[in-house]
Amino acid sequence: MANPTLMRCLLAVALLSSVAHAQLSTTFYNASCHSVEDIVWAEMKLAVNKERRTGASLLRLFFHDCFVQGCDASILLDDGGEKSAGPNADSVRGFDVIDTIKASVEKKCPGVVSCADILALAARDGTFLLGGPFWDVPLGRRDSTTANGSLANANLPAAGSSLKALIASFAKQGLSASDMTVLSAAHTIGLARCTTFRDRIYNDSNIDAAFASQQQQMCPQSGDDNSLVPMDVKTPMKFDSVYFQNLMDRRGLLHSDQELFSGGSQDALVRQYSSNPALFRDDFARAMIKVGNINPLTGVQRRTHGVLKHSICSVPIFQKGKPA
Ligand code: HEM
Ligand SMILES: *[C@@H]1O[C@H](CO)[C@@H](O)[C@H](O)[C@H]1NC(C)=O
Ligand SMILES: *[C@@H]1O[C@H](CO)[C@@H](O)[C@H](O)[C@H]1NC(C)=O
Ligand SMILES: *[C@@H]1O[C@H](CO)[C@@H](O)[C@H](O)[C@H]1NC(C)=O
Repeated sequence: MANPTLMRCLLAVALLSSVAHAQLSTTFYNASCHSVEDIVWAEMKLAVNKERRTGASLLRLFFHDCFVQGCDASILLDDGGEKSAGPNADSVRGFDVIDTIKASVEKKCPGVVSCADILALAARDGTFLLGGPFWDVPLGRRDSTTANGSLANANLPAAGSSLKALIASFAKQGLSASDMTVLSAAHTIGLARCTTFRDRIYNDSNIDAAFASQQQQMCPQSGDDNSLVPMDVKTPMKFDSVYFQNLMDRRGLLHSDQELFSGGSQDALVRQYSSNPALFRDDFARAMIKVGNINPLTGVQRRTHGVLKHSICSVPIFQKGKPA
C-alpha cells in the first residue's frame, strides 16, 4: 500500500523528470559564464586547425555520451566501463580536447560549466568548423558521477546493424527513423577502422564492386584491423550531403550506412537529402538538438553511485556548491 510520503516522493521524481528537458536553455550561462561559447569555439578552432578529424571525433563523442544515460558526460569517466565498452574502446577520441577546453573554461568561470555542456558545444563547433550547419545549443546539463558499460554495449548501434535494429536503437532514445537517417550522415566526416567495415566489403551484396575492391586494398581479409579509411571517400573531412549520393551509388562504407538505402523505408529520404543539401543541414541541426535533449541531469538532479574519476571532469559542478 503506497503511503503519502512515498506518493510525494514519486510525484517529486515525476515532476523532476518532466521538467528536466524544459530546463535546458541557450542562455543558461548568460550571467554565470558569459564567454563560455567563445572559449569553446576558440579551443575547438585551435584543435581542428591542428587536426581536422578532431571536429568529427567530438561530434561522435557527444553522440556516444548521449545514448548512454543521457547527455551527462558519463563517457568521460574512467570507471564504470562505459569509456572502455566495445563501441568506445580504441574508437572514440577527443578526451584530451575536452580536458583542454574545460581547463580554459575553469580559468574564466571556476566551478560553473559542466563537461556535458562543453561536449554539446564542442560537437556543434566541430561540425560547423568542418562546414556543417550551426545551431544554438540549449545548455544547463549537470555531470554524472556514474557511468555504465553494459548500457553502452546495449545502446550504441553496431556497424553490422540492420535497418530495423538501427530504427529500434534510436527509438529507444526517443528519436525517429528520419532522425536516425539524417544523423547517420555525420559519417560525411571522419574515419573508420578496417575492423568496422571488413564484413561489408568482403561479404555484402549491396555494394558497388569497384568501391569494394578499392576498400579491400586498405583493409585485408585479415590483419590491419586498425587501418583507417575516410567514411566519405569523396570529400573526407568536409561536412556535406555527398554521403547520401554515396549511398545511392552503393558506396556506403559501413553496413549500417548502406542499410539506409537498401530498398527500405529510408530510401526516399536519402534521395531527398541528396538533392536538397539545405534541407539536410536544417534537419541535421534540429536532430542534434534532440540528441542533446536526451535525459539530461538538470538543476540539483544527481546521478551518482560513488565518485568515479576522469582527470579534470571528475569533480562535478554540483559538488562545488553551485547548483544554479
Ligand atoms: C546509425 C548508427 C551508427 C553506427 C552503427 C555508427 C558506427 C560508427 C562506426 C563503426 C564508426 C567507426 C569507429 C571506429 O573506426 O572505431 C563511426 C565513426 C563515426 N561516427 Fe558513427 N555510427 C552511427 C551513428 C552516428 C551518429 C548519429 C553520429 C553523430 C551524430 C556519428 C558520428 C560519427 C563520426 C563523426 C565518426 C568518425 C569519428 C572519427 O573520425 O573520430 N555516428 N560510427
Ligand atoms: C542573455 O543575454 C542576451 C544578450 O546579452 C540577452 O539578449 C538575453 O535577454 C539574456 N537572456 C537571459 C535569460 O538573461
Ligand atoms: C547499467 O545498465 C543496466 C542496463 O543495461 C542496468 O540494469 C544497471 O542497473 C545499470 N547500472 C548502473 C550502475 O546504473
Ligand atoms: C564472410 O562470411 C563468411 C560466412 O558467413 C564468414 O565465414 C567470413 O568470415 C566472412 N568474411 C569476412 C571478411 O567477414
